[in-house]
Amino acid sequence: MRSLIEQAALRLEQLRQAGAAIPLMTGDIVSTSTRVNDTAPLKPESKQVQFSRKVEIDLEMLHGAGLISPDAPRSQIADQFRVIKRPLIRNAKGKGASIIPNGNLIMVTSALPGEGKSFTAINLALSIATELDNTVMLVDADAARPSVMSVLGLPNGPGLFDLVLDESKDLSSVLLRTNIEKLSILPSGTPHPRATELLASDAMTRRLDDMARRYADRIIIFDSPPLLITTEPRVLASHMGQVVIVVRAGKTLQTDVLQAISTIESCPVKLLLLNQARTDSKEGYGYGYGYEAEQELKHG
Ligand SMILES: Nc1ncnc2c1ncn2[C@@H]1O[C@H](COP(=O)(O)OP(=O)(O)OP(=O)(O)O)[C@@H](O)[C@H]1O
Ligand SMILES: [Mg+2]
Repeated sequence: MRSLIEQAALRLEQLRQAGAAIPLMTGDIVSTSTRVNDTAPLKPESKQVQFSRKVEIDLEMLHGAGLISPDAPRSQIADQFRVIKRPLIRNAKGKGASIIPNGNLIMVTSALPGEGKSFTAINLALSIATELDNTVMLVDADAARPSVMSVLGLPNGPGLFDLVLDESKDLSSVLLRTNIEKLSILPSGTPHPRATELLASDAMTRRLDDMARRYADRIIIFDSPPLLITTEPRVLASHMGQVVIVVRAGKTLQTDVLQAISTIESCPVKLLLLNQARTDSKEGYGYGYGYEAEQELKHG
């Protein structure tokens, strides 16, 4: 019997066939000095100078926590994400056949809480950041249960929702550079009682447009709230080129998965990611990938 990863690789090949192209746009980045460690070839177009703060991620801690670490590039989890990220990068970079608007905006979500969204979003970002050609921004868009900063062992600070509440704030004033050169992080920010509602606001839409335009060369991954608890994440999904729906093996109900998919019908690329599936005794728990698995679920 094929392993989950082999099955996933097959699925990815199908996805590749259906891949897409997106036009890259010129960024109007604030200043090159905000991007000291970034290799993205954007030109400075504004005289305003903003410095992004730099934070240190403990790479040994990452490895110890079962996350991908640039210090341990050959771990099992790194191998799994090497497979998972490939179609997402291809779509984001426009290496496929059709055009996916905002293909570089990737939302990681699920039907319900606790299915592995944050674990997946963080590992995806870490995995892509180890690619030579790709720069990645990890955004914590889950205001109700923010966890990117705590999982990475970083202190909380201002972030996404502060930008939405104060549109005069520049992204670079809260965006964090890290010791992983190609990874920057946008925390969810100061807790706000109505933060989840803000996901569906016009101000959020303007911020997303700004990000997509200014960082067109960067893959932006959003750790997001689940789709079936509140309606706002669906609005967030409508701005994304790609949505990864994490399904927890043996736990998420098929009806919930189908309902979650139906809430984001308009998103051009939806991928189902089977998390914590038992593979075999040697591999332990791993990932399986499904593309347009909606059909299979309906018929299967
Ligand atoms: N593939 C995996 N291997 C090992 N641990 C995992 C895996 N997926 C998730 N976990 C663990 O399961 C727990 C829940 O995962 P996570 O926080 O990523 O879920 P979530 O969907 O983001 O939850 P929430 O809805 O609360 O934001 C975490 O402790 C995480 O480390
Ligand atoms: Mg989470």
